[in-house]
Amino acid sequence: MDSETEDNVVTDGEDQVATSLPTTTPLVAVPLMAMVNMPSLYSQCDMGDLQNLYPFSSEVDIPEEIELPVEEVNGLSLMSDDDFANRGINNIARGRKGNPKVGADRKNHFSPGGAGGNDGGGGDPDVNNLTLESVGGLDDHIAFIRQSVMYPLKHQEAMQEWGVEPPKGIMFHGSPGTGKTLLAKAIGNEISKLTGKQVTFYYHKGSESFSKYVGESEANLRRLFAKAVATKPSIIFFDEIDGLCPNRERSANICHAYVGVVTAMLGLIDSVKRGDVLIIGATNRLADVDPAIRRPGRFDKVLFFPLPDEAGRKNIITIHTSQWLSDKPTGEFLTVLAKKTVGFTGADLKKLCTDTVQNAFTRNGDGKTIHVTEDDWATAFSQMNKSSTAVFGSSVYVADHVPPLLLPLFSAEMATLLPKLDLFLPDGQLAKTPGAGKLLNGPSSFLVWDSILVDDRYQLGLLMQNVLTHPRLSKYSTYILDVPTLAKLQASRRNVTITKLVGDLIGQIEQSESPCVLYIPQINKLYQTLFAVINQRKGKEENHQIPVFISQLKSIRGNKLILATWEGQMTNVFPQVKSLFNLEHGIYKLQKTGDAERRAFFKQLAPFSGKNEGPTENKRKKKGNNQNGSEAFNRLLEEIVEKTGGDPMRWVVNLFVNLSNRIDKKEDKNLITDLRNYLDRL
Ligand SMILES: Nc1ncnc2c1ncn2[C@@H]1O[C@H](COP(=O)(O)OP(=O)(O)OP(=O)(O)O)[C@@H](O)[C@H]1O
Ligand SMILES: [Mg+2]
Repeated sequence: MDSETEDNVVTDGEDQVATSLPTTTPLVAVPLMAMVNMPSLYSQCDMGDLQNLYPFSSEVDIPEEIELPVEEVNGLSLMSDDDFANRGINNIARGRKGNPKVGADRKNHFSPGGAGGNDGGGGDPDVNNLTLESVGGLDDHIAFIRQSVMYPLKHQEAMQEWGVEPPKGIMFHGSPGTGKTLLAKAIGNEISKLTGKQVTFYYHKGSESFSKYVGESEANLRRLFAKAVATKPSIIFFDEIDGLCPNRERSANICHAYVGVVTAMLGLIDSVKRGDVLIIGATNRLADVDPAIRRPGRFDKVLFFPLPDEAGRKNIITIHTSQWLSDKPTGEFLTVLAKKTVGFTGADLKKLCTDTVQNAFTRNGDGKTIHVTEDDWATAFSQMNKSSTAVFGSSVYVADHVPPLLLPLFSAEMATLLPKLDLFLPDGQLAKTPGAGKLLNGPSSFLVWDSILVDDRYQLGLLMQNVLTHPRLSKYSTYILDVPTLAKLQASRRNVTITKLVGDLIGQIEQSESPCVLYIPQINKLYQTLFAVINQRKGKEENHQIPVFISQLKSIRGNKLILATWEGQMTNVFPQVKSLFNLEHGIYKLQKTGDAERRAFFKQLAPFSGKNEGPTENKRKKKGNNQNGSEAFNRLLEEIVEKTGGDPMRWVVNLFVNLSNRIDKKEDKNLITDLRNYLDRL
């Protein structure tokens, strides 16, 4: 624990505060922050700043249970049968062949009053022509729909003769903007095109037709089902079904009206004959839907809508640019776009495409010769970051690669850390070993820590960049949970509490089926911050609430890794935070750099040691490094290796970041002299 008594670190018993960074002034030519793209903004976002960063709302005591859309319920006017028909059943596409209404008011049907929902800002341009091909990246779901919905509807009698039972209900669930409503609309359209069969499609939006008058909503539902049976075969699509049938077990405050609706719904689903009426439900969170509704026999099939993978993103971008008259992204550029959009939902991708073309229009003021350029895409990307609404999507984290010149410093550290971490990776050793014993009892979580709080922009930050960009980890989507991200999210969703944001993010990760990494820089500080926020107004004597995100994290299982960091003494880590990690295997403490690594790094300075710079230096570079070892340089090299030894790695990294940046910028004229002066002062 030598390093804990460093001069530049003051330990105040509670936490540690870095008073200054090591002096590297003679070498600093450019501000440090400009050089390295830092993985975390913690250093800029201390507890004290937080209040300025975003005003936490006063209602911090949010129960972790689901919140009922009370305003919606109260705010809804009494609906007469006609109203209901207009807002509910009439929102329904009548796919009945030959019905003159089909097509004429299809748009209305499929964009029910534009009411809520993530429909990507105004719905799809060509709603009438939506087909299953308009839905990208969901090939398996589409195949299932064709096989289990379309085919049985078309060949109902034959299927019955063969005793094949179609599903009674299908539940769509997944993050906002992943195409649930889109797929349902496409099914509605496709069904109306089915030849020789008249199928009615009813669209019903969550709490929209919910009436505050006891019994009214149930009556409405009964009418809807009766109509669906009368016009069989038919499909009822309950969009945002959690608004109508919330989980009765998860909330004690659930109002009676909902309980009645859930009970009615259960009876109604059971009463309809399989094959006559197919019920499709859609929700963001499966857990928010009453479990009795979800039970097999009612919703036989549950389809999860993941965030699109690279191929899916290509497909969706292609769909949303298919109507462009020119400059559609193809080939390599499409691949670049798909790679840059990790974590984007279908709705995000649609917005990106729309913004891009709008940027092209804005640039070409005359509106005649429109050309979409890469700059238009780049501008759209910058607009995206500000406006992305999905919690999950906004938390996507893409680590920057560590500057190559710095890599030698991390080689030994990576060699030790990676095998330890591998144990916990979604496809790592533990996952492959059935019944791997005690380790499996906890969540897959791993902590990288350093005993000194200096500034995670340096060693810890760079190491984490290196880890997250390593091929073992970079193949997983990474999400970040930290104060700056929460601050950004809260700024865009002002009426949502911080506790709910954290809960939403963790919930979405928990429900996601794809393997992923949840990166939590400075986890102890996050805990401390959330504690402060939820207990903001309380005095010392009052009972304090404990942030629940740790127990939420513990419910994350399976193919996800929680990768956290902490800078400071272990004794300062809150017990709850500690309890997340297996302190024997799931933890790694930062090391000092070895002589060999520092030597390898400094050797890269050799081309700058010659007296003649410019062409000679370039020649030397081309020839390889065999001319590097001038006597003087070798002596300097050994001296610097020795003088930087014994120091914790962090300030060495600081020095190296400066040096490597100067090398990159070719500001080499005085580099060696500066280094010499620097060493002499040590
Ligand atoms: N898989 C996809 N393929 C093509 N476009 C998509 C896809 N997913 C989303 N989009 C675009 O985003 C818009 C919004 O998606 P949609 O309304 O279907 O999301 P959702 O999953 O129903 O979200 P919410 O849970 O908020 O209701 C769609 O109208 C479409 O333009
Ligand atoms: Mg929807």
